[in-house]
Amino acid sequence: MNFNAIKETEAAPGATGESAYEEKVLSEFEFRLIRDYIHDYCGIFFEDAKIQTLAMRLSSRMTVLDIGSFSEYYNYLKFHPRGGDETAELIPRLTNNETYFFREINQISLLVARLKEKIKNEGIVNFKILSCGCSSGEEAYTLAIMLEEAKIYDRCKIDITGVDIDGKILRKANSAEFTAYSLRSTSRETADRYFLRDGEKYLLDERIRKRVRFMHGNMVDQHLFRMFKDVDAILCRNVFIYFSDSAICRTVESFYDALADDGCLLLGHSESLARITDIFITERHKNTMIYVKSGT
Ligand SMILES: C[S@@+](CC[C@H](N)C(=O)[O-])C[C@H]1O[C@@H](n2cnc3c(N)ncnc32)[C@H](O)[C@@H]1O
Repeated sequence: MNFNAIKETEAAPGATGESAYEEKVLSEFEFRLIRDYIHDYCGIFFEDAKIQTLAMRLSSRMTVLDIGSFSEYYNYLKFHPRGGDETAELIPRLTNNETYFFREINQISLLVARLKEKIKNEGIVNFKILSCGCSSGEEAYTLAIMLEEAKIYDRCKIDITGVDIDGKILRKANSAEFTAYSLRSTSRETADRYFLRDGEKYLLDERIRKRVRFMHGNMVDQHLFRMFKDVDAILCRNVFIYFSDSAICRTVESFYDALADDGCLLLGHSESLARITDIFITERHKNTMIYVKSGT
C-alpha cells in the first residue's frame, strides 16, 4: 500500500482538509478504528469519553511521521511494514507508569508471609514471582527489599521478573535510579539502608538491583506466558484499571495457566475479578485480599 498516495488523496472523515493541523480532528469512526486496534494489541481500552485524550496522544506521533489524518495513521499502524515498530512507539504514550516503593504494602507483606510459611511447612527453596506491568520497577524491588528484610534470601533462590510493554520505562527500571517521589512511602531507615543518595537521585543498592530482572513483553500476548510455568505469585497491580473486561479475562486465563497449583495472583486495591471471571478463588485477609487457584 502506498501511504504517500493515501496522504494526498484520502481526507480524514470529519476533517476540514484546510491544513495539516485542521486535519487532526479525530472523527468518531476513526476513534473506534484506532481504539479497537490498541485494545486488540495490548488490552488498554479508551472509553468513548476519552476521544480527546486519544487524539492528543496520537497527534504528536503523527507530526513526527508527517501524517495528516487519523485514517492515514491507522492504516500506517495496521498495514505499513514499519507499523509494528510504530505500534511499539505509540503504546508507551498511552500507558500510565505511575508507581512507587511500598505501594499497597499489606498485600506484599502477605505474600512474604505466604512464602515463609511454604519454606517452613514444605521446605520449598525455589520461588518464581512475576511483576506484570512493572513500570520502572518499584513494585518488584519493594518485594526484593522485603524478602531481604525477612532473610528469605539466606534460605532460598527467588526469581523475580518484571514485565512491561514499555521499553523506555524498563530502561529506567534497569538503571535502578530513583527520585524522592518514588520513595514517598519509604521509611527513612529503609531508604538509608537500601539507597545511596547522589544529589537528587537515589541509587538502589546493587544487592537488591541484582535480584530482579526485567523483560519487555505484552501480557495480552498469550505466547509470552509459554516461558513461565509453575509461577508462585503474579503481581499485576494497577494495570487492569486501563483494560476492558474481555482483555482482563484473557490475561487472567494466561496467568492461571502460568501459576503453580498453589500460586496466587495480586491485583491492585481498586481492581477486582468479580463479574469478570470466577476461575480464581478470592482469599480475604485483614486489610487486603489475594486470588488463589485452589482454596486451602
Ligand atoms: C500504573 S503502572 C503500574 C505499576 C505497578 N504495577 C504498580 O502497581 O505500582 C501500569 C504499567 O502497566 C504497563 N502495561 C500496560 N499494558 C500492558 C501490557 N499489555 N503488557 C505489559 N505491560 C503493560 C504500563 O506500561 C505501565 O508501566
